[in-house]
Formats: sequence, structure tokens, C-alpha cells
Amino acid sequence: MFDFDRVIERRGTHASKWDNMARLSGITAPDAIPMWVADMDFAAPPGVTAALTADVQRATHGYYADTGSWAAALVDWMSRRHAMRIDPAWVSPTPGIVSGLGLILQAVSAPGDEVVVFPPAYHAFRKIIVANERRILDAQLAEQQGRYTMALDALRAKLTPRTKVVFLCSPHNPGGTAWSRDELAALANLCAERDLILVSDEIHCDLVFGSAKHTPTMAAAPHVADRLITCVAATKTFNLAGAHVGACVVSNSALKKKLDSRIAASGLGSYNGFGMAATEAAWRTGEAWLDALLPYLEKNRDLFDARIEAAAPGARSMRLDGTYLAWVDFSATGLAPEDVAARVAKRARIYASPGEQFGPGGTNWLRFNFATPRPILEEALDRLDEAFADLRAGKARARS
Ligand SMILES: Cc1ncc(COP(=O)(O)O)c(C=O)c1O
Repeated sequence: MFDFDRVIERRGTHASKWDNMARLSGITAPDAIPMWVADMDFAAPPGVTAALTADVQRATHGYYADTGSWAAALVDWMSRRHAMRIDPAWVSPTPGIVSGLGLILQAVSAPGDEVVVFPPAYHAFRKIIVANERRILDAQLAEQQGRYTMALDALRAKLTPRTKVVFLCSPHNPGGTAWSRDELAALANLCAERDLILVSDEIHCDLVFGSAKHTPTMAAAPHVADRLITCVAATKTFNLAGAHVGACVVSNSALKKKLDSRIAASGLGSYNGFGMAATEAAWRTGEAWLDALLPYLEKNRDLFDARIEAAAPGARSMRLDGTYLAWVDFSATGLAPEDVAARVAKRARIYASPGEQFGPGGTNWLRFNFATPRPILEEALDRLDEAFADLRAGKARARS
């Protein structure tokens, strides 16, 4: 019903993933494969295309009237998929999640205040904190039995009176960790104990595989509702990143008022009609598409993990509960980080996200986006296989 194997030519279409690759990575080969930024190479759900086509054919593109239907679609979706009970009055749309994070920082902290992040963590967290003249407080994730865990006692010891906000990524990017109810509740308790605002970025919540489950922080920790801001969007789930629409969900009305005043101060209270139409249509019509996409992505994950670990002996791809971003540790290959990077970029002609981008704990890791049609993924894996062939041969010789 949905053809995720179909290869769509995205070069020359202002697709950042393809058209910014050479400039950002220096990989100029015409057959280079982008496995960096987190969007997918699949067509969006047909209902989204229909909604946008109707807009285009009507050909009137004036200001957007927010009648409440967008928030209603979001509320229905989150209730159906995640048993998350949201009152539409709690919803503030923002032009994307990262801009929402910046507005939150402006609403609840001052320059020089500290913001907790759990590295390795989504690099835009770091950038938006620094751009807003706040300081990053790193709470290094620990790895236990192949998954990340939060070291909350170590974090507690680092907190200062200037620490005001915690940025949690749930599920985590990179590493794909779906945090458990207990883990979320423990973090929430620490936030209550130390009077911190907890921002739970749940943009990847719909992209969780198999028996793994996303638990909304709101559901795990209702006792901290007054200090919780949940960020959600349809853009990651339905491949609409260019629509640039997200939402902050804030049940504390005083806190929401502070955020809304920052939104108003930046002139962001009027929304992009194309983005609103696309994302509302996605929530309303995209469920069958998503249900078909998830097993496709899960198969890509399994294929990627098996083949990268076989290609580069010692490499380990963290088992993702969710997200389509494989997180691979090359440190046990015996190769220097520059050597690994050169093999991937020069020999395989693949642009993967360098691990250092994600803060401490990312050295000699690479993040690979596998949300691409299988023919492209298989080509990428064949090239990675070749790029590490001499490493395999050397290790085989050493064994014999
Ligand atoms: C955790 C996380 N938050 C936010 C974003 C981006 O959100 P937006 O494009 O809406 O700013 C991403 C994109 O990869 C992400 O991984």
C-alpha cells in the first residue's frame, strides 16, 4: 500500500540532507550517500500530499486562522497512540521544536543560568543553550548492558543555584533509549527537589519499535506537571521537517503565560499555513502509513546493525528502542577516530554525523540515519563493507 522501497530523487530540490552534504562534509563525490540529518527519504503520507495539493490548487495563501482544529488533531493523536491526556488549552504551537526550546529558555531562565543536558545528546540542544547565552551542564549518560542510563546522583552533586532547566530527549537521540517509567519519575523527583523546569522533548515518540514503548514524561510523573513542558511534533514521525511546526504542551497556566509572552514578543503567534495544514493532515490521516513505516524501519535497523558489525569487527551499534538513527561505537575496532571517519567519508562516500557533535562521550562514534529506501541502504552497507575490508583481512590474518 505504501512503497517505502521507491527511490525519490531529492538532489537539487533544496533537501538539506542531500544538497547541503558537500558543503558541510566536504564529500563531493556525485554518488555520495547522506546518512546524517534526521529526515527520511520516503514520501509523506498520501493524506498530507492531498491536503497540500488542495491548498496549492485553491491558490490563495493568506494568513492562517487557528480555529483549534490543529490542537484537536494533536490531542487526538497523542491520546490514541500514547494514552497521553492533553487539554488543548495547554498547547502552544512554535515554529519547530528547537525554536520552542529557545523560547522556553528565554521564558524561564536568565543569561548565565545552567541548563542540564544528557550527553551524548542531540547537538541542537547544545547550540540553542549557547546561542541564548545560557551554560551547558553536562550530565554524562552511563552505558549499562548496551543502553544508556541517567546517572542522577552524579548530576545531583553537580547542580548549582544557577541550574534552572533540564533538557531531556525522550526517546533519546542518539542511542534510541526509550526511558522507563521509573527512570522518568526519578528524574522528575530530582527536578522537584531542586526546583528545576523539566523540558521533555518527545519529538521521536512515535518512532519506537517492537516491544519497546514510549512513556510520556507527563504520564510517568504527573506530580511534576507544574514544572513540566513537553515538546511534540508531527514533523519527525511523518517526514515533514521542512514544515517547521511543533508544539509546547504546558499544563501550568502561569508557566504557559510566560512562554506565550516570549512567543508574542518574537512575533510568532501567527502560524505558517502550509506547515499547519501538513501536520494536521498527518495526525488525522497518517496512522496506517506510520503503522506500515515502523516495521520497514525496524528491518532497516536490524539490517544496518548486523552488517555494520560484520563489516568492521569491533564496531558496535547500540540497540535502538526507537528513532532511525543508528549510533555506532568504533572504539574497539582498534582504528583511530580519524581513520574511521576517513573510511566512511572517503572510501564509502557516506556522510554520517560525527559523534563529537553530540558532546562528551561521542568520540569515535558515528550516527547513521537509516530512514532511506532499502536499495540505498544496501548500497551504503556494501560500501561500508568494502571500506573496512582490509581491517577484516588484517584481523583474520592475526587470528591464523
Ligand atoms: C530530539 C530532537 N529534537 C528536535 C529536533 C528538531 O526539531 P525541529 O526541526 O522541529 O526544530 C530533532 C531533529 O532531529 C531531534 O532529534
